[in-house]
Amino acid sequence: MMSRFANILISWYDKNKRDLPWRHTRNPYLIWISEIILQQTRVAQGYDYYQRFVQRFPDVYTLAEAHEDEVMKCWQGLGYYSRARNLHAAAKSMAEAGGFPDTYEGVRALKGVGEYTAAAICSFAYELPYAVVDGNVYRVLSRWLGIDTPIDSTIGKKQFAEAASELLDRDRPSLYNQAIMEFGALQCTPSAPRCTDCPLSDSCMALQQGKVDDLPVKQHKTKVTNRYFNYIYVRMGAYTYLNKRTGNDIWRNLYEFPLIETDEDITEKPELLFTKIEEVFGKTTFHGEEHDVLSRGNHRVLRLVKQGVKHVLSHRVIYANFYELVLPEETYPMKGFQRVPIKELHKFAVPNLVSQFFSLILEPNL
Ligand code: ADE
Repeated sequence: MMSRFANILISWYDKNKRDLPWRHTRNPYLIWISEIILQQTRVAQGYDYYQRFVQRFPDVYTLAEAHEDEVMKCWQGLGYYSRARNLHAAAKSMAEAGGFPDTYEGVRALKGVGEYTAAAICSFAYELPYAVVDGNVYRVLSRWLGIDTPIDSTIGKKQFAEAASELLDRDRPSLYNQAIMEFGALQCTPSAPRCTDCPLSDSCMALQQGKVDDLPVKQHKTKVTNRYFNYIYVRMGAYTYLNKRTGNDIWRNLYEFPLIETDEDITEKPELLFTKIEEVFGKTTFHGEEHDVLSRGNHRVLRLVKQGVKHVLSHRVIYANFYELVLPEETYPMKGFQRVPIKELHKFAVPNLVSQFFSLILEPNL
């Protein structure tokens, strides 16, 4: 279909598009970085990260040679940190293979690149005729075509991919893909879409049937669980301890204070925390003062500094308490943790939750 749909979207785009740096390049590396950032991040937040990232890592080779900690530090605050780990891994494999792939299959094979991102890169950089299907596109197509098949079902994904491919303007895939995504972001928005001044209103099925607010349909609501994090900010003179997260959990490769995770909020149960601290740090840490962690004489050494900091992720809500544990400088080293000068904390890539606590403790007079 050399469609009226595509023509309307593209002329809407000409008038309404935002001026964004990744729209002025055909460099696949730069487009790749922008698309990975924009996968789960809004333009307003991603903009500065993109500028800083490509300034520091202007090409595949620079990124491939960088230390992982520095890549993570550049990503700090953006969330979904597997994106940064995958970028780095993919850059290394591209550097080894001699550069950025120039076919759809080659691009799709990069770590962290799914169908959406491959279509975006290949259309924007190489004008290959692949239709993008992201959240914006699901919304625009489900409404305009009046499709109520769940977008997170196998059959729904297939149906939308086919519709998207049929509607793609094959002479101008880059322009068309940008246009439909921008239209979803600015005009056909999730809530309060601007139907009254919409150039597609006369042919929009959802509008005719009064279903705009019901589309797109999702079958699974994301289940959210609570987690309770108790961070122990150790103070041993000018030093503290950090842990680098590993394993198959959130925030892999980011740093944090020694963590005691519990099934419930234990703010009112300090003795439980006391036991767990010994489990994590070992009794020797306390240099013979075994049952005297909460208070030593009149001097309290474990203090709840910040309570109930709520941190919302896509599948989790984390409630964090921050405790300060003051230990004598001659205390035995804490095995498994990294000893760090407090004034160098800002150099480590940490979750937002922890960096907010840094701001509190690094401010003088607190
Ligand atoms: N979201 C995903 N890709 C985008 C792009 N290229 N421009 C604006 N928003 C986007």
